[in-house]
Amino acid sequence: MFTVNRAVVCPGIYQFALVRLLGLCLLAATPLLVSTAQADDAHGESEAALTLKSRELVTTFAARLKTALQGAMQSGGPVAAIDICKDIAPAIASELSRQSGASVSRTSLRVRNPANSAENWQRQVLADFERKAAAGDKVLEYARALPGQEAVRFRYMKGIPTAGLCLACHGKKLAPQVQRQLAAEYPYDRAVGYAVGDVRGAFSIVWPAEAPQLSP
Ligand code: HEC
Repeated sequence: MFTVNRAVVCPGIYQFALVRLLGLCLLAATPLLVSTAQADDAHGESEAALTLKSRELVTTFAARLKTALQGAMQSGGPVAAIDICKDIAPAIASELSRQSGASVSRTSLRVRNPANSAENWQRQVLADFERKAAAGDKVLEYARALPGQEAVRFRYMKGIPTAGLCLACHGKKLAPQVQRQLAAEYPYDRAVGYAVGDVRGAFSIVWPAEAPQLSP
């Protein structure tokens, strides 16, 4: 799951695909991130560490979703893949939440499933992502420590751009069968009408102040 990040950090070296070099490469990048860190919080974790952990969660979530979605689209087409999105996306989110102790989710300014509706702070970040994307900014990332808060200590969001693959279910013109199926399963669907490059939504990672009771 680090492959993409490493490739971005060291495109030249990556071509050789040497595991050792990649390791060095990542190490070399780490101090840059750490040097921007504020003081450690009460849990002994710096903002930089929480940002990195959040990024990892997003990378895992995105990669697993994409694999599941692409597989389902290839084997059964978009109508069959709707149920994969419906079942798999929330399942991955809760599994990652359980494993990490953070609250992992996806949200958007226009949701398909009302259960994914954005909270106020998420709306503000999403609106900011849209402004940035409109200005040509490709880095849609938000990370904020909340030291004074009782319930939450760190919030992280990463924008999700609309890709070609997404248009079958989120685009401007859907196949009639897809439209029918979505209408049946998502009567409050607002997540259509997107074009490639639009901000479809964002991943959201919220780290609670208290360590949650992890289920076995
Ligand atoms: C096969 C149809 C299908 C495709 C293709 C698809 N989605 Fe979705 N998408 C859905 C469904 C169904 C949901 C609702 C899932 C749920 O119930 O949580 C959804 C929900 C979402 C959400 C959560 C917010 C919301 O609207 O409820 C995001 C973000 C999202 N999709 C992004 C994408 C992106 C980005 C792509 C392309 C990489 C994509 N989707 C491709 C069907 C699809």
